[in-house]
Amino acid sequence: MKRKPFVAGNWKMHNDLGAARELMGGLRGNLPKPLNVDVAVCTPFTLLYPMGKEIDGTDIKLGAQNCHFEPKGAFTGEISAQMLAAAGCTYVIIGHSERRHVFGETGDMLRKKVVAAQECGLHVIYCIGELLEEREANRTEQVVESQLQEALSPDLRTDLLTLAYEPVWAIGTGKTATPDQAQAVHAFVRAKLSGFFGQETAQQLRIQYGGSVKPGNAKTLFECPDVDGGLVGGACLVAEDFVAIISAAQESA
Ligand code: 13P
Repeated sequence: MKRKPFVAGNWKMHNDLGAARELMGGLRGNLPKPLNVDVAVCTPFTLLYPMGKEIDGTDIKLGAQNCHFEPKGAFTGEISAQMLAAAGCTYVIIGHSERRHVFGETGDMLRKKVVAAQECGLHVIYCIGELLEEREANRTEQVVESQLQEALSPDLRTDLLTLAYEPVWAIGTGKTATPDQAQAVHAFVRAKLSGFFGQETAQQLRIQYGGSVKPGNAKTLFECPDVDGGLVGGACLVAEDFVAIISAAQESA
């Protein structure tokens, strides 16, 4: 039995209030019914409150794209996990490749963020993935294993944890990992998760694939035995495409 798929849209730094409302309008009415997929939209911080209203009464959940690890204090420009929980977030993405590679977030910071988020009851989507040069040097497994080791430990709450494998070379490039490439890494990650949490729990944890997921490739990716849905960037900004990806996840379940 496969796990219930989970599809999250990472809006990144896109959408003003008008565009966001329009997008949510296009999503709300068009999701498969009944919905057998967990669905989240991870919006910019400024849109959390209004999008919280937009999803009220629907099956869509709200998520953020980052948080700080301290609950409060003199951290100009930062947002705490507590603030996200108070704003109605269920999820927070931690360790996205753009946070690691553009903003220099370290394993130590990410570990603290994961713990802080779970302490506030937030469900963490923890991202891992290798650079192109790391894949070409046959270092993919080594890289994702060290990213897991940096942030995970057996004391974490696995009911508040999802993994997202996002090969950096596939993000925003239109190049997708083939289903075989994705499956191989997902199976490797699941085997490593057994080491942290035991085999039974590792079988229950969801591992999303991210990196140029589109309506045309979603189904074959989601059908892989260890791929449990997706973390979607560009295609989640178009309601019709995001709905098609959610439907693909539903069909693959
Ligand atoms: P794209 O779907 O635009 O490649 O982005 C993937 C991603 O980074 C989701 O977090």
